[in-house]
Amino acid sequence: MKVLTVVGARPQFIKAIAISAAVARRDDMEEVLLHTGQHYDDNMSEVFFRDLKLPQPKYRFNLGGGSHAEMTGRQLIEIERALKEEAPDICLVYGDTNSTLAGALAAAKLHIPVAHVEAGLRSFNRRMPEEINRVLTDHVSRWLFAPTQTAVENLKREGVDPASVHCVGDVMYDVSRLIIDGTVSRTVIVDDLALPRGGYAVATLHRQENTDDPQRLEAILTALGELSRRMPVVLPLHPRTAKAVEAQRLSGHLAAIRAIDPIGFFDMATLLADARLVVTDSGGLQKEAYFHRVPCVTVREETEWVELVEMGWNRLPESISRQAILAAAEAALASGPGADASPYGDGNAAELILDAIAATG
Ligand code: UD1
Repeated sequence: MKVLTVVGARPQFIKAIAISAAVARRDDMEEVLLHTGQHYDDNMSEVFFRDLKLPQPKYRFNLGGGSHAEMTGRQLIEIERALKEEAPDICLVYGDTNSTLAGALAAAKLHIPVAHVEAGLRSFNRRMPEEINRVLTDHVSRWLFAPTQTAVENLKREGVDPASVHCVGDVMYDVSRLIIDGTVSRTVIVDDLALPRGGYAVATLHRQENTDDPQRLEAILTALGELSRRMPVVLPLHPRTAKAVEAQRLSGHLAAIRAIDPIGFFDMATLLADARLVVTDSGGLQKEAYFHRVPCVTVREETEWVELVEMGWNRLPESISRQAILAAAEAALASGPGADASPYGDGNAAELILDAIAATG
C-alpha cells in the first residue's frame, strides 16, 4: 500500500515523524513525502528534518507566502500533479493548515481516499483560516483520526459516518514521549539561555487574529513584558509575528522579553520540561505544556483542546487585554496541578492509525 503524505508547516513535520517511523517498521506500506514549502525558513522547516530524522521529501515545492487563495491554489496544482505521477492508494494529511486542505481536496477530486490525522477539532470560530481548513478536510476524508473523544463528538454532530471515525489519541503525544521517557536526551538550551530551572515562562505567538490586530498584539506583548518582571519569559518568535512586530512598530515591547529565533522540537521540549508557565496561542503547545505538566494560558477566545481547560491545566483570559492575560497568568501560577487523566491516548496513535488504514484499505 502506497501512502502519499502532504506536509508543509512546522507542526506537520513534528507529527509526521511518528507516522513515518511507524510506516518504516511495516512491510505492507511505503510512504512518499511531499513538502509544499508553506514553511521554508531553515528554523521553521529543515531543522525538523535534521533533528527528527524525518526522511527527505521526494517532492519539495516552494509554495509558501501570498494570500490564502494564492497559496492554496498553487498548492492544489502541484499536489495534483504529484498525486497523478505517484498514484498512491492513500493521501495522508495532518492538522489544519492550507497545505492540509490543498492535499485533501486534490486527492479527493482524484478519488484517492484521504486520511486526516487530527480530525474533528473545532474552535467554532469560522473567522480562523484553520477552522475552515479543518471542517472542509474532515468532510472529504475517508479516515478521520480523532485525537480525543471531544473531537469524535464534534464529527458526530456534523453527520460524519461514524464508521470512518477512529479515536486513536494524539500523535503529538507519541513524539513528546521521546523526551519525557528519555529516549532522546534533553538539549542544553536551558543552560545556554541561563534560565533558572522551574522558574521561567515559555511564550509563543503566531495566530493571524493576534499578529494582525495591532491592539491585540500590543496587549499580549505588554502582558509578557510585565510577566518578565516576575520571571524570565522566553519567546521564540514565529516569522509572521516578527514581521507584524516590525510593521506595527512594536519592537520596543520586546526589550524586556527574551525574544529568540524559532527553535527545534527537542529544544522546545527541553524548555517545556523545566518551565513554570506557558503562554501561547498555539494548539500544539497547549498540549505539550500538559504532557510536561506545566500550566498554560492560551491567549485566544476559544480553544479546540477543551479537555485541558476542564482539567484545570489551561486557562483562557476573560479578554485579550493586558490585565486579563496577566490575571490568567497569576491564577495559573497560584493554582496547584490540574487533574491527571489521559485524554490524548497512550502514545501509540501512529500504530493505531496504520492498523486502521491497513484493516480497511
Ligand atoms: C500556519 C498555519 C497554522 C499553523 C502554523 C504553525 C495556515 C492557514 N496556518 O500559520 O494553522 O498553526 O502554520 O506554525 O495554514 N514565513 C516565513 N518563513 C517561514 C514560514 C512563514 O517568513 O518559514 C512567513 C510567511 O511568508 C507569512 C507568515 O510567515 O508571511 C505566515 O506564514 P503562513 O504559512 O501564512 O502561516 P502561519 O502563520 O505559519
